[in-house]
Amino acid sequence: MSTLKIGVLASGRGSNFQSIIDEIEFKRLNAEIALLITDNPSAFAIERAKKHGIHYLIIRPKEFHSKDEIFIKIAEELKERHVELVVLAGFMRIVRKPLIDAFPNRIMNIHPALLPAFPGLRGQRQALEYGAKISGCTVHFVDEGMDTGPIIIQAAVPIFQDDTEETLSERILKYEHKIYPEAIRLFSDGRIEVEGRKVRIKEYTPFDASIVNPFIKGKFSIFSI
Ligand code: GAR
Repeated sequence: MSTLKIGVLASGRGSNFQSIIDEIEFKRLNAEIALLITDNPSAFAIERAKKHGIHYLIIRPKEFHSKDEIFIKIAEELKERHVELVVLAGFMRIVRKPLIDAFPNRIMNIHPALLPAFPGLRGQRQALEYGAKISGCTVHFVDEGMDTGPIIIQAAVPIFQDDTEETLSERILKYEHKIYPEAIRLFSDGRIEVEGRKVRIKEYTPFDASIVNPFIKGKFSIFSI
């Protein structure tokens, strides 16, 4: 199978970006990161790109007349590098139509909550403030809504009584770093089918179920709390 060309969009620290780089370098993911695009010139993700010899591009939103124009430019850059899958890794902007239309069901996002609960900013804090007992993270395809697209993989983690936003974020992040490369792997293996708002994983096995739910213990459990 040919190597999947990925474009990553990130605004900050880039730890999810790093988890994808690592999986590729360990040869556990048959993909190549063709380009990193950031809207933040001081994003640590840029340092990661430099360290791993990945092309990067800084977009300065103030230089554009409209939000749509930003995304027209991003789509052009990604197409120029023959990107097949766009990966949002802590990209703190709502993706606009020109990019969504250029990559239908080919843009993934990771969100630090169990969608459809707690969309938008600071999903971890929202879950804590709501008093939820379980939260987690979600990888989904991007549509025009806010964190509303078809769900690919979720992982759940418990919320403990004395959690802070930091402790919960740290617990969730560990699973982000597992399920995001896994979702990309399913895509690159051609195992993802989208039917309406449902994602079906082809050749689904109990092993895939354990990825979906890390609480499942036993033979097929690969994650533990
Ligand atoms: C991650 O927790 C990601 O889920 C979240 O931003 C963080 C980025 O961390 N994304 C969102 O909240 C999107 N709504 P990273 O830069 O270390 O990957």
